[in-house]
Amino acid sequence: MAMLASIWIVLLSVTIQGGDGQSVQMDPIKSGFVGSQVELRCIFQNSNPPVKISQVTWQKFVNGTKQNVAIANPSLGVSVLPPFKERVTFKQAAVRHRTPSLEDTTIMFSNLKLSDEAAYICEYTTFPAGNRENMVNLTVFAKPVTHMTLTTPTIVARPQKRKMTVATCQSANGKPPSVIQWETTLKGESTFQETRNVNGTVTVRSNYVVVPGRETHKQKLTCVVTYRGDRIKNSVVLNVQYEPEVTIEGFDDNWYLNRKDVSLTCNADANPPVTVYQWKLLNGSLPSTVEIRNNSLIFKGPVTYELAGTYVCDATNSIGTRTGLVEVNVTEKPMARGPPGGVLGVLGGVVAAGLLIAVAITVFMVYRRQQKTRTETDNDLTDLPPAHKPAPPPPKKKSGDLKGHLTSDDIQVVRLDKDEEMQKLPLQPPYYDMAPSESIPFTDKPGLRRPHLRAVWWCHSM
Ligand SMILES: *[C@@H]1O[C@H](CO)[C@@H](O)[C@H](O)[C@H]1NC(C)=O
Ligand SMILES: *[C@@H]1O[C@H](CO)[C@@H](O)[C@H](O)[C@H]1NC(C)=O
Ligand SMILES: *[C@@H]1O[C@H](CO)[C@@H](O)[C@H](O)[C@H]1NC(C)=O
Ligand SMILES: *[C@@H]1O[C@H](CO)[C@@H](O)[C@H](O)[C@H]1NC(C)=O
Ligand SMILES: *[C@@H]1O[C@H](CO)[C@@H](O)[C@H](O)[C@H]1NC(C)=O
Ligand SMILES: *[C@@H]1O[C@H](CO)[C@@H](O)[C@H](O)[C@H]1NC(C)=O
Repeated sequence: MAMLASIWIVLLSVTIQGGDGQSVQMDPIKSGFVGSQVELRCIFQNSNPPVKISQVTWQKFVNGTKQNVAIANPSLGVSVLPPFKERVTFKQAAVRHRTPSLEDTTIMFSNLKLSDEAAYICEYTTFPAGNRENMVNLTVFAKPVTHMTLTTPTIVARPQKRKMTVATCQSANGKPPSVIQWETTLKGESTFQETRNVNGTVTVRSNYVVVPGRETHKQKLTCVVTYRGDRIKNSVVLNVQYEPEVTIEGFDDNWYLNRKDVSLTCNADANPPVTVYQWKLLNGSLPSTVEIRNNSLIFKGPVTYELAGTYVCDATNSIGTRTGLVEVNVTEKPMARGPPGGVLGVLGGVVAAGLLIAVAITVFMVYRRQQKTRTETDNDLTDLPPAHKPAPPPPKKKSGDLKGHLTSDDIQVVRLDKDEEMQKLPLQPPYYDMAPSESIPFTDKPGLRRPHLRAVWWCHSM
């Protein structure tokens, strides 16, 4: 009985020491940028009654191996070991006192390096409870250097329309890696490339590829770099040089004899601007009455037949020369304006209405003829043996609906069941002759198919 009680007491004391006993409190994770300072917390939660702290050891734990960082001993003092000596200190001055207090052994880690990334263990050696430890995972970030560059300050659009890289966006030596995106209305493509450095940082690059042309000139291109939730935007405006795009204005399809003050103007969209405009007349020289003023041809005096021809304008800038042309006809009289459209419209309407009426009359006539035919036969013969001809039904279905037509088709087909007709077409596939030509245009598609089916049925029943 006494032994049992003593076991209970032992168990109880163990429970108190273990459960409500000592613990080492640390942050599970911590992070900092290269060059910055980070605080690694380590607080010893003692029990009541307290245990005695014999030593505190900070260790770096990486790749399964442990390396001592700092040691605090109540009788021997404090020691920070070589690679960390300059950069690690205990936060609490009391740790370094002659009679130290070792409950808070938080360390300050300054001037962080990428190689400092590791797990750090804070271990308390106590008496009589033994070792208590905890761990903090330290992550070291590196801010990337981000920039965007234009491939060339001015892009030259070649007529061959080749794709080219117009801008590059780079986010160098970041940890974790950045993400690059492009914002633009340009219809281009982007390529992405990631380079992993030995020290764990990543360089991300993206090229923006486009076919430069008139449409890409002055377009804005924005590179958006996202690094740990931060968005960095860089924009450029493309400067594209391109050949002139030429149009000729001034000919309105109404150059008539003796018209005054006509001219042609060569308009060119170009970057850089057009330096030279050259006018020519295809198959001939420019009329003597013409005056060239900058990019315009001013025709002096009234229009004559001699002005007719194909006028060509060559516009040249530093990128190239492009040509525009216009064919000038000269008419005797001014072209009628305004009314023709309306008159034509009315005329067209009248013609269309006439046609419609004609069609309607034709349809009606044909329908009448079919109705007549139908009165001689039945309109529903499906159940009858082929050799029998039904009595004419009372005339019905006067309405001109489509079904009436279908039915009349049926009749046409079944009429061939008559003996004489069968003899006339003994070997022919019956449906060729069966649909009388006049009925075809006025039946819809199912109607056309039905005679065919009926004809097959007729063959079988023979
Ligand atoms: C940890 O291991 C990796 C590969 O397993 C190695 O590249 C690296 O150098 C090691 N780091 C240390 C500190 O030993
Ligand atoms: C800390 O790192 C170790 C290995 O280095 C890992 O096993 C552990 O899960 C990490 N802890 C946290 C909270 O990330
Ligand atoms: C990491 O390595 C790259 C490439 O060697 C280097 O340019 C960069 O400065 C390094 N970053 C740090 C924080 O050491
Ligand atoms: C222009 O001249 C060429 C040859 O000199 C000829 O083949 C062509 O038909 C001419 N065109 C016109 C519109 O007169
Ligand atoms: C034509 O060019 C001259 C200079 O060469 C300029 O002064 C003038 O304004 C131009 N005229 C037009 C209509 O563009
Ligand atoms: C002008 O000439 C062209 C070609 O000779 C011809 O096709 C066109 O109909 C003419 N235009 C007029 C308004 O006569």
